[in-house]
Amino acid sequence: MLTSGGDAPGMNAAVRAATRAALARGWAVFGVHNGYAGLIAGDIHALHARDVGGIIQRGGTVLGSARSPEFTTEAGRATALANLKQRGIDALVVIGGNGSQTGSSVLTNEGLAVVGVASTVDNDLFGTDVTIGVDTAVNITVEAIDRLRTTGSSHKRAFLVETMGRNCGYIALMAGLAGGAEVIAIPECEIEPHDVAERLRAAYRRGKTHALVVVAEGVKHSAQAIVQHVTEHRDTIGFGLRVTTLGHVVRGGAPTAADRILATRLGAAAVDQLARGAAGVLVGVRGSDIVATPLAEVAGKTKGVNQELLALARVLAQ
Ligand code: F6P
Repeated sequence: MLTSGGDAPGMNAAVRAATRAALARGWAVFGVHNGYAGLIAGDIHALHARDVGGIIQRGGTVLGSARSPEFTTEAGRATALANLKQRGIDALVVIGGNGSQTGSSVLTNEGLAVVGVASTVDNDLFGTDVTIGVDTAVNITVEAIDRLRTTGSSHKRAFLVETMGRNCGYIALMAGLAGGAEVIAIPECEIEPHDVAERLRAAYRRGKTHALVVVAEGVKHSAQAIVQHVTEHRDTIGFGLRVTTLGHVVRGGAPTAADRILATRLGAAAVDQLARGAAGVLVGVRGSDIVATPLAEVAGKTKGVNQELLALARVLAQ
């Protein structure tokens, strides 16, 4: 198995579960270090039950991760496949997000038995309601919002929090909803800087002592553009606006219990799929059920966000 792309809290729980579920079936298990780059470099090592002990609570990935441009070439993948064959490895579990599962799909087409495990803080993967890591990322963002609100209230200030998510607004939307944000800006529903300013002005006039603006990193009207506009019109808005960019903080540290449980279920489910001879799929979750979606359907697609929740957050910000 390998972990690939941006690390996500809970990846280790998935590694532990897949390793021990496979060992329980009497299979030999190997861990590939540093994602697809390690597959090409032959950085492949046997994994035993004790090797994955004490990691369920740890953030990051003990296997290491990387983004590998070489893997997108035919020659790179041929080396990767040869490395697996040489060791008698006949199946691969790929724990990762969009780019990683596109890689899984390509390897499937090239004849390898691959099962993907949905794991990215962005939660933009098609074929699953949630991905490993996003619950932790949302909780970290909410904690930041809560902390900024107390200082905001003391100083009658507005705060803008920029969070991760690449081109997907899921983290910002859910954290904004859970944190009671006055404004949520996401790529799926862009908001112009002057509209943000207007909402802040209205909040100030309604007597709010603070205002929170949550911005997804992928928006076209960037955090910087919003701040510039609000600063230029500060006199008529009432609030001053300060910025906190969370960046990689959002995907660091220990996974929540929800992420550990999801990762444990999905890691074990990946092994079940292989045991059934049903490779070529991504394992994810729909409602409370584990589901498998063909990698060919997952590759290159992204999932949208529930825009009704955005409308709800706006109503509740009154
Ligand atoms: O895809 C996960 C993610 O954390 C995105 O939210 C973010 O845009 C990106 O990775 C950052 O990539 P890197 O870790 O390569 O800077």
